[in-house]
Amino acid sequence: MNNFEFLNPTKIIFGKDVEEHVGKEVKKHSSSCLLHYGGGSIKKNGLYDRIVHSLKSEKIRFIELGGVQPNPRLSLVREGIKICRENDLNFVLAVGGGSVIDSAKAIAVGVPYSGDVWNFYSGEATPEKKLGVGSVLTIPAAGSEASHSSVITNEEGMLKRPLNMEMNRPSFTFMNPELTFTLSKYQTACGIADILSHVMERYFTNIKNVDFTDRLCEATMKTVINNAYIVSKNPKDYNARAEIMWASTIAHNNLLSTGRIGDFGSHFIEHELSSINDVAHGAGLAIIFPAWAKYVQEKLSEKFLQFAVRVWNIDQNFENPKETIMEGINRLESFFTFLGLPTKLKHIGIGEDNFNEIAVKTLYGRNGSVGNVVSLGKDDIINILKLAE
Ligand code: NZQ
Ligand code: ZN
Repeated sequence: MNNFEFLNPTKIIFGKDVEEHVGKEVKKHSSSCLLHYGGGSIKKNGLYDRIVHSLKSEKIRFIELGGVQPNPRLSLVREGIKICRENDLNFVLAVGGGSVIDSAKAIAVGVPYSGDVWNFYSGEATPEKKLGVGSVLTIPAAGSEASHSSVITNEEGMLKRPLNMEMNRPSFTFMNPELTFTLSKYQTACGIADILSHVMERYFTNIKNVDFTDRLCEATMKTVINNAYIVSKNPKDYNARAEIMWASTIAHNNLLSTGRIGDFGSHFIEHELSSINDVAHGAGLAIIFPAWAKYVQEKLSEKFLQFAVRVWNIDQNFENPKETIMEGINRLESFFTFLGLPTKLKHIGIGEDNFNEIAVKTLYGRNGSVGNVVSLGKDDIINILKLAE
């Protein structure tokens, strides 16, 4: 096991109706805020009214900025920064999913900075200060509610880039599983694919003697898979929604990274699928992750064998371990298909013509490779895309 430091300061407020107290929690940090949200789901399901009521009852001065798109765009971030500066707002409250929270995080680092906020995402500058950020989570998926990341798409060149730093972690997040009842089957499935991928990115490591975190990863994956079947039959099953929601935060708050090195190569490839075709992140991962697994399994064969046996309950073929490994990967792919997700690039209209562009964009500004556990160059990325064709 590697040495590690772990601190996750995000306060989690979890359960039925918890969001009614959001005003009180914001008040602990600021008497004003930018209320940031997405394309309107929170207005349809009544959440917006409850949040506004809670802010008003605590006399918090707020200005709202909706319209965050999935795969959040830099232009709206710039607009948010301008609004905060002009109105002297000191806090950003994100109500939505990963896209809204990531956009809020970007606004928060951009406000006190005199340069262009994209400099942080391109690696040209590092934030030193930021506004506080809190969230009311409406979709378990990206894990942004407690993660150290924010991922933004720059419309100029359509590059999608993460900004990873401890300072990015929100101060608090409200998580009411009932808020996820209105998610469509597809959005639920995208979230599940992202959650599983966050765990698998950490699980497939070459660091030895990490049994405790291996087993935490396996518990998280099995919980998500088992409860996904329940939710697919009954989208309003509170307990199943609650299990998935809590697992989604744990999957990406770095607890599962302690003592080990994760990979994240497939995440970086997926980000550029989303940037050229606007596919939902989880759907892109359902395509890329199994292809990545097939491409690298020989380098991490022991872990892939363990994955097949412990996560998918496959009886090990001792004479032909490769067969067990491939069965594990195929079961993952079939699970994504069961959820209604695409598992091939052709399902989302991406063909061989796009492969070079995806590989070049993935590697742009990254010294020629991605992936910490298995380093991938341009040819490797193209080979993975071919396996996903
Ligand atoms: O915009 P609205 O109308 O709210 O609709 C959203 C959106 O269309 C809808 N939705 C959310 N909650 C809902 C709901 N619809 C009905 N009922 C609800 N309760 O769902 C759609 C997707 O929302 P989005 O926020 O885009 O989803 P997600 O949480 O999957 O976030 C995806 C983004 O996060 C990034 C991804 O790359 C992508 O840009 N990621 C962020 C990470 C991080 N910050 O740590 C890590 C991840 O690996 C990921 O890269
Ligand atoms: Zn992800």
